[in-house]
Amino acid sequence: MNRTGEQFSQSSQQANVEQHGQQLQQFVLPPSFNDVKMRIQTAYGENTIAKLPNFQGDFINFGYWTDKQLEVKDKGISVEERVEASRRLYSYTVEPLEITHNDLLLEIGFGQGVGTCHINETFSPKGIEAVDITPEQVARANARFSELGSVTFSIGDAESLTFSERTFDKVYSVEVAQHFPNFQEAAFQMARVLKPKGLLSFSAHLATSVSAFNALCKEGLFVNEGIDCLVPMTYVFEALSNAGFVVKQSNDISVQVFPGYDAWFEQKKAEDPTSVTEWTKKIYTAYQRGLIGYYRFFAQKKGDADADAKEQEAAIQLDPTTDKQAQSPNPS
Ligand SMILES: C[S@@+](CC[C@H](N)C(=O)[O-])C[C@H]1O[C@@H](n2cnc3c(N)ncnc32)[C@H](O)[C@@H]1O
Repeated sequence: MNRTGEQFSQSSQQANVEQHGQQLQQFVLPPSFNDVKMRIQTAYGENTIAKLPNFQGDFINFGYWTDKQLEVKDKGISVEERVEASRRLYSYTVEPLEITHNDLLLEIGFGQGVGTCHINETFSPKGIEAVDITPEQVARANARFSELGSVTFSIGDAESLTFSERTFDKVYSVEVAQHFPNFQEAAFQMARVLKPKGLLSFSAHLATSVSAFNALCKEGLFVNEGIDCLVPMTYVFEALSNAGFVVKQSNDISVQVFPGYDAWFEQKKAEDPTSVTEWTKKIYTAYQRGLIGYYRFFAQKKGDADADAKEQEAAIQLDPTTDKQAQSPNPS
């Protein structure tokens, strides 16, 4: 059964969407979205794609490449430079959060856990709860980083977080949101577990628009059988807003991500054509055709006062007594 961006909302989300009077952009999710999480868990499971030459240093992201790196990429990229690009994507993603020692953080989709360690070492926050949907990732991170007292790795799905509401100061996520079949539910969950005025920052590749998403589906690129859902970035704005976030910044960082990653892919392919999969090339081609982009979203959950004011405003509009009073002529 096909589902649309509106239809996949559960009743609580729909109530919220209706309450806020917002309509999510219409786009059709292919039936294959139903079992995408199973495919994700297989892809990152025992034979994790972290082992592909595409990725290095146990990071599983395309990397954020500096202009200097891109200028000299044709001369060859070292493994350390490849790892540094992935680490930099983490640093870039969390930069607007201005993490302090007092912050309790949530990371969604920690992968092999190396990015979590990087954030922990760099900022020494009060603590990091890191969740990943793939049980093998959690087992590996726990086995490898058992000594990190203030960091906890556990199984968790962004779309059904089990933490209490208002737990975290800040939430971050690196190259995970492209996997979410139900971004709206993930947005509601992230808003729920954040404290009022809490901050969210995440980076991911997404379809550039609803029509780009439709083209990806039609051509069978990624979304139909792969592990990337690539919901439209335009829809992400709406979903965040419906969940009670104010989007403070959205950055298109495609030029800092795709060309460097593709250059690394070409280098690996030249070294050993059998070691790479053409999937990476498809990503680059889709970027060149303007179908996908790489984005960082930085958003703030509304504070209690904002939420109260909005609720009051809605109550005044809906309250028939108030309406009557406002409309009835003053007899005196
Ligand atoms: C591309 S990897 C990124 C890993 C890590 N952030 C990094 O940059 O190295 C995506 C990770 O997200 C996890 N993941 C996918 N969907 C998820 C979801 N709904 N909730 C939590 N984790 C998810 C996968 O298991 C995988 O480990």
